[in-house]
Amino acid sequence: MRVAIIGAGNVGGNLGATLAKAGVDVTFGVRDLADAPALQQRAPGTAVALPADAAQAAEVVVLTVPAAAALDAARSLGDLGGKVLVDATNPVAWQDGPVLAPPPEGSIAAALAGALPGVRVVKAFNHFGAELHAEPRIAGGPADALLAGDDIEAKRMVAGLAERAGFRAVDAGPLRNAALLEAQAVLWIHLATKGGHGRRIAFRLVRD
Ligand SMILES: NC(=O)c1ccc[n+]([C@@H]2O[C@H](COP(=O)([O-])OP(=O)(O)OC[C@H]3O[C@@H](n4cnc5c(N)ncnc54)[C@H](OP(=O)(O)O)[C@@H]3O)[C@@H](O)[C@H]2O)c1
Repeated sequence: MRVAIIGAGNVGGNLGATLAKAGVDVTFGVRDLADAPALQQRAPGTAVALPADAAQAAEVVVLTVPAAAALDAARSLGDLGGKVLVDATNPVAWQDGPVLAPPPEGSIAAALAGALPGVRVVKAFNHFGAELHAEPRIAGGPADALLAGDDIEAKRMVAGLAERAGFRAVDAGPLRNAALLEAQAVLWIHLATKGGHGRRIAFRLVRD
């Protein structure tokens, strides 16, 4: 399965490196190809291309850009019809702490799905810090990666990628629940910053 990662910052760079280490075919889509050598040193085994070229050659496109840029970035990738678009972005403002600032559609993922008909949007990899994208283990076990989306097959593909990277994939329901995952990310940011717990924290689903 070929994966394009659009935006190679904290989240994208780390997730791309982890997936590549697990043997996944990863191409970073970056706006400035001069970034390629540093990126490939950080993430050995990856390729680097312009965003649209990376996306067009992939079955799964992971969006790891600032939320404010998500729609424009996704639209700039050309026709993504039939592809899986994984949205890892979070609409967060800061007012003496993190505040959820969703678009009118309720979530960035819903806005993407509305703007890109035929694209199979899955919300994932957004509700923990970028340290876990680099090393998906915490407190002695795999970190949970909650996924929300309406397309069962797309969710199955993303769950497979998450598990291959070292996460435990958890189906969090339909795409409307992306709003909950984006809110969960804001809660994570609050706990890590204002709450004083630091960044080495994650939510885990436990069950008797
Ligand atoms: N940081 C975290 O711990 C964390 C955790 C979970 C989720 N998130 C979410 O993940 C997203 C990325 O966060 P981050 O911390 O990784 O941000 P970041 O380090 O600032 O990286 C963002 C990347 O997006 C690229 N970019 C911006 N606009 C673009 C466009 N139109 N087309 C292509 N690439 C574009 C930037 O590239 P240029 O160099 O070209 O500007 C940069 O490489 C955000 O939505 C954030 O809320 C962050």
